[in-house]
Amino acid sequence: MNANSDAAQHKRLVEQGYDQIAHDYARLETNNEWPRIRWLYKLLERLPPGSSVLDLGCGSGDPADIEIAQNHQITGVDISQTQIELARQNVPHGTFIHADAGAVDFPAASFDAVVSFYTIEHLPREEHASLLQRIQQWIKPNGFFLLSIEAGEYEGMVGEWLNVPMFISCFDPETMKGMVIAAGFNILETKIETQMEADNEVPFLWMLAQKR
Ligand SMILES: C[S@@+](CC[C@H](N)C(=O)[O-])C[C@H]1O[C@@H](n2cnc3c(N)ncnc32)[C@H](O)[C@@H]1O
Repeated sequence: MNANSDAAQHKRLVEQGYDQIAHDYARLETNNEWPRIRWLYKLLERLPPGSSVLDLGCGSGDPADIEIAQNHQITGVDISQTQIELARQNVPHGTFIHADAGAVDFPAASFDAVVSFYTIEHLPREEHASLLQRIQQWIKPNGFFLLSIEAGEYEGMVGEWLNVPMFISCFDPETMKGMVIAAGFNILETKIETQMEADNEVPFLWMLAQKR
């Protein structure tokens, strides 16, 4: 089996997994507020009303896209059809696309900002540098990129998560920061924050960056 068919198999696993666990995933945050909205506000305070924002791995759109859509145009992309259907219900004025973030494409300078929360670690890390470069192209000059990704180092592994097999793959945080800079961004703020997923503590790397 070659790397491409491995990647396709892992993406199918992630897609089928989130189709099954969309509701269980949403419940993970109950009683444990994650830092997502706090970081989102750091971005939103920099955006004029009516800005266009892309959310890669938008999930159900709750809570981030609901918040973004209050003052901006939101486009969400997710590999899970179930998540996309939930997002369309939760954010009726948004545009939601069922697609792989690693394959979807947009014209250059389409968005004032791109956000991606807890998602890029589900794509093979061999795709991360090219995805960051494509994101940079989609953002308008001086636009923003807000990212969270698990603060670990995984070559690519399948583990059980919420009772389904789930694929995870990422570089260590310092390498990831270097890749964001190499893709053409200045990092404005970054931090590793640990959050609770039910009873588990999970560290995530957060980055607010601006296109150079
Ligand atoms: C942990 S959830 C995060 C959802 C949402 N961003 C949030 O803040 O709660 C990861 C999401 O990424 C999506 N995803 C995983 N791999 C993807 C890919 N290759 N392309 C697009 N979406 C993907 C999953 O379907 C899932 O909805």
